[in-house]
Amino acid sequence: MSCTYLITGGAGYIGSHVVVDLLARGHRVVVFDNLQQGHREAVHPDAVLEVGDLADCGALRSLFSRYRFDGILHFAANSLVGQSMQQPFLYVGDNVSNTLNLIRAAIDGNVLRFVLSSTCAIFGLPERVPIGEDVAKNPANPYGESKLIIEQILKWADRVYGLRSACLRYFNAAGAHPDFPIGEDHSPETHLIPIAFEAVLGQRSHVEIYGDDYPTPDGTCIRDYIHVCDLSDAHIRVLDMLEERSCHYNVGIGHGYSVREVLDSVRRVTGHPLPARIGPRRAGDPPVLVAASDRIRDELGWAPRYPGLDTIVEAAWRWRAAHPHGFGPAQVVD
Ligand code: UFG
Repeated sequence: MSCTYLITGGAGYIGSHVVVDLLARGHRVVVFDNLQQGHREAVHPDAVLEVGDLADCGALRSLFSRYRFDGILHFAANSLVGQSMQQPFLYVGDNVSNTLNLIRAAIDGNVLRFVLSSTCAIFGLPERVPIGEDVAKNPANPYGESKLIIEQILKWADRVYGLRSACLRYFNAAGAHPDFPIGEDHSPETHLIPIAFEAVLGQRSHVEIYGDDYPTPDGTCIRDYIHVCDLSDAHIRVLDMLEERSCHYNVGIGHGYSVREVLDSVRRVTGHPLPARIGPRRAGDPPVLVAASDRIRDELGWAPRYPGLDTIVEAAWRWRAAHPHGFGPAQVVD
């Protein structure tokens, strides 16, 4: 059945990939994005782009008066861990209040399905790894805290109003779409793989490794890198089951790679020597974050189609090599 979905943050990295995949399945897509971090060029031309801000309740009322949505996928948020430690109210304030505006609009508009872009940052320093859904939630930064608060708001939105929600806790999204020219481009860029590409492209002199004294085999942090299209697939599967009940899933491939292993992969894929230097630890980085994704595999039949690190890095590089400055104008980073 063809549905109409509202995608907030659909001009951003993960949202824009989900837009492409929903359109490919014959759905109609309305993107709501303030374009502060998103890119107009990232929105597939078959989607409707409504430029607006979730803080603007009048804009939301107007949006919901013009469309009848079968479901909402909510990506729009401030999402930088480091920034959240300096400006916490952008997170536990704006992220939460903007989402509450959206949830209220959903309930008033009789929308019954809501997918939240959540994060493994809700677990903080996890009590055990790999991280299953039942691991204690102890966010170590306001970004993770904001998503945990929103998960709890959604619990009550279900119990009181019947709004069914899926909270997808992403691990490290990476890669780019094979069929549409979109990829990862943040400003400022803080993520390891795009930063490594900037060094390959001569836009920065080297990659700084944030600490090599962690309790891991090579001393650098270990993360679970998941192809953005595998994440997108999780969203599409979860939409189908949401009519029955709300759910929470940790979405990663279940295998971790160290910072050094990621840089080695970038060297293999690009053929560039990629200089790296050891720097101090980055505040708030847990040593190891790897998902236990058995629940989503068992319940939704989800499985990563791109589980190999080199495959993910290759996909990311294909887009970045063709778009050396991402979506934006040329600029030198350092
Ligand atoms: N890193 C470096 N050098 C860099 C950039 C990153 O060594 O220049 C390291 C980081 O310290 C970390 C790893 O590379 O160990 C991955 O860092 P990213 O910034 O790419 O990703 P994070 O793991 O910090 O962030 C991800 C998600 C966030 C989420 C967070 C939870 O992108 O949304 O995990 O900790 F909140």
